[in-house]
Amino acid sequence: MATCENEARTGVRAGSPPSPAFAPEHDRQETPMTESTRVTTPFTAESTAAEVADGVDLTGRRAVVTGGASGIGVETARALAGAGAEVTLTARDLAAGRRTVADIVTTTGNDRVRVAPLDLADRASIAAFTASWDGPLHILVNNAGVMAPPESRTPKGWELQFGTNHLGHFALATGLHAALAAAGRARVVAVSSRAHLRAPVDFDDPHFRVREYDRWVAYGQSKTANVLFAVEAAKRWAGDGITVNALHPGAIMSNLTRHLTERELDAMMPDYVFKTPGQGAATSVLLAASPLLEGVSGRYFEDCEEARRHVPGAARGVADHALAPDAAARLWQVSLSELSR
Ligand SMILES: NC(=O)c1ccc[n+]([C@@H]2O[C@H](COP(=O)([O-])OP(=O)(O)OC[C@H]3O[C@@H](n4cnc5c(N)ncnc54)[C@H](OP(=O)(O)O)[C@@H]3O)[C@@H](O)[C@H]2O)c1
Repeated sequence: MATCENEARTGVRAGSPPSPAFAPEHDRQETPMTESTRVTTPFTAESTAAEVADGVDLTGRRAVVTGGASGIGVETARALAGAGAEVTLTARDLAAGRRTVADIVTTTGNDRVRVAPLDLADRASIAAFTASWDGPLHILVNNAGVMAPPESRTPKGWELQFGTNHLGHFALATGLHAALAAAGRARVVAVSSRAHLRAPVDFDDPHFRVREYDRWVAYGQSKTANVLFAVEAAKRWAGDGITVNALHPGAIMSNLTRHLTERELDAMMPDYVFKTPGQGAATSVLLAASPLLEGVSGRYFEDCEEARRHVPGAARGVADHALAPDAAARLWQVSLSELSR
């Protein structure tokens, strides 16, 4: 079993000790810049997806969870199905997807769960998925992700993490826009990461064609792009009743660290307080389904509440570079341009 994400590196100045993943309130080095309007809920870092979904009725609602056959995605799909939604989980490995579907059907008693093939690094696969979608889509959870691989590229030549985590999900969400609009009050959830603190989007060289590849900067850039997508989509799609938010799920044992060595993992372990996959899925499910989030859009959450602005030295919060409206608008145009090639 692999472990968690290398977030202890995020937001930590060189030479300073890493901050704990879940510092107590009085230890947080953050400023409540939007305190008057910051969204909080009764749920916490310890809450599970099942607890967040308890009492929520999603009967008649249709949901898509990308990367739904592994890690946080499984528990996100399970909670949505448990609340009565019709859930399509996407997977590259259809056999793994079918096993997950069987497990979710058994544990929830909801048989309106299915798997569909989707490779976010493959434009044809995304096009096939969006073309085959029929009818309204109420919930889209952009959950799939790849972290810190050796330098790799999609068939289009895109850096793999930017290409998969951002551009793949951008193509998926924009390809499903009509279905989301048709749902009336659809919700889109972008699973980002605290690793967004490591890097803004480098608009001059997002694919590391000129600068030297750094797998953590590349991952951080892709996770910043996830937040910027939420900021701009929230604005563009508000007229369709679609809300779009981003989140950091916490540090969760999963397959995400498949590209790290055992030694790298061992070195990271002391810096984390881990959540269970069910706890890791809680903020996704909150944003996707909770009535507490009705009408909330364009924001970034962690531990089931809207994050405060990050300040240097803290290992939580949301970076200004991830919420900047001009960067969000620019990324949208750059993404459209990339997809048009
Ligand atoms: N775990 C953490 O500590 C943590 C912390 C912060 C953020 N996150 C974010 O949470 C999300 C879920 O991560 P996780 O921890 O649940 O990791 P995980 O168990 O590795 O799940 C990631 C999922 O993404 C899928 N995926 C990867 N590349 C894909 C591609 N090209 N096309 C389609 N699907 C692809 C994987 O499919 P395969 O199984 O086929 O590879 C897998 O289902 C990610 O976006 C990650 O960045 C996780």
